[in-house]
Amino acid sequence: MSDLDLVVRGGTVATASGAMRTDVGIRGGRIAALGESLKGGAREIDAAGLLLLPGGVDTHCHIEQPEADGTVHEDSFVTASAAALAGGTTTAICFSPQFKGHPIAATLPGYRARARKAMIDYSFHQIITDPTDDVLGREIPALIADGIRSLKVFMTYDPLHVDDRQLLRILAVARRHGALVTVHCENYEAIRWRTEALLAAGLTAPKYHAWSRPPVVEREATHRAIALAELVDQPIQIFHVSCDEAAEEIARARARGQKVWGETCPQYFVLGAADMDRPGFEGAKFMCSPAPRDAAESEKLWRHVARGTLDVISSDHCGYSYEGDKGKRLHGADASFPDIPNGIPGVQTRLAIAFSEGVGKGRIDLAQFVALTATNPARLFGLYPRKGAIAVGSDADIVLWDTARRVRISNGLLRHAIDYTPYEGLEVTGWPVLTLSRGEVVARDGVVQAEPGRGQFLARGPYDLIRPTGRLANGFDAAPALP
Ligand code: URP
Ligand code: ZN
Ligand code: ZN
Repeated sequence: MSDLDLVVRGGTVATASGAMRTDVGIRGGRIAALGESLKGGAREIDAAGLLLLPGGVDTHCHIEQPEADGTVHEDSFVTASAAALAGGTTTAICFSPQFKGHPIAATLPGYRARARKAMIDYSFHQIITDPTDDVLGREIPALIADGIRSLKVFMTYDPLHVDDRQLLRILAVARRHGALVTVHCENYEAIRWRTEALLAAGLTAPKYHAWSRPPVVEREATHRAIALAELVDQPIQIFHVSCDEAAEEIARARARGQKVWGETCPQYFVLGAADMDRPGFEGAKFMCSPAPRDAAESEKLWRHVARGTLDVISSDHCGYSYEGDKGKRLHGADASFPDIPNGIPGVQTRLAIAFSEGVGKGRIDLAQFVALTATNPARLFGLYPRKGAIAVGSDADIVLWDTARRVRISNGLLRHAIDYTPYEGLEVTGWPVLTLSRGEVVARDGVVQAEPGRGQFLARGPYDLIRPTGRLANGFDAAPALP
């Protein structure tokens, strides 16, 4: 076949179901042929000795996201894209916020405009904080029809959280119109109450962030979100699971046949509460919610990953700098823990940490790694098989991966705009060598070769995985799906 634009030759293609030596032929930005010794190709890339992975799909990235206090996450669509591509991630889903007292329309068009600078392909989750009748009855159906087929709700955080009734109403609208609901599960009132007690006792340092939200707070909210989703018969994904207790709730629901999926993130494998106890303000570098736990908890999480209870590894990338006055020090270098912005950067390091800690240390196999970081997130969010696969017809998003390359992570290697990485000094084995996005070389050895604006918005249509199960209490459908 001589009409190929590009042949990637001699590599081993890794998919969610196994690995095989095969050349990959690319035409018009898509995979056109897989086979031995493909003929022709206007250009060739030698991949001998390397793995070919589907481009990473990171379905949890906070990029250039406005917050209710008027701040904007520091990583822009350009810098976060650069970091993603250098790290082997070619697709991301990020968050368009709604602010209480305002319609979705107050932010979504502006956010869409910012995203047009992206160099990765992208989609949005719509955050819902104020589910008024108009938001539920008009705005959400319209954005789902427009291809934004996932909603995010927070069960905690001022000023984002929704109460149980609001959550039920959001779940019902998602069911009716066909969207996945993703949930941040921590108990708002419990954290408030405990935070007040900690502050009253003078316990204000970053490490008390973890004390304000122990696993029981996450387990309770996870249980409640799952129960409410069961009542509505609406599929959900539990975001950033940090502990065994919460994962057990998901495992039990899945055993009952409920459509519940669980996401975890690299920070819950390699960071811990002890990091938040570093001297001075340094603990702020590790503050995210839920809080990283400890090594024993991480091992338990890996077991849930290995058995499929947690089936997506995302980054929860959050661009807050350590120095300066925009990020972690927004309220000063001696701010109490509730005033320190939550979240840590990780879009570039996600694949390397998951590979090294997972495959490299024998906790998961290569096929599971591909499933967790590309195929499962693509399936769950309606992007498969365009994304998350190396298959004929899929977008030619491919990462050439050197399984033997040892790297000590340092912020100097990273392309984000953030002045630190919480993974500074962590040694990983396995690193991306070259990234293709729709057949274009977009990163080579950490050097990004892409133009702002090359990224495409991925409108997501209806898909089977998130259809309700039809199991209803008393057989009564309180939120009938549209025909
Ligand atoms: O601490 C975190 N995870 N910050 C980002 C916002 C969220 O909860 O996902
Ligand atoms: Zn969250
Ligand atoms: Zn997040």
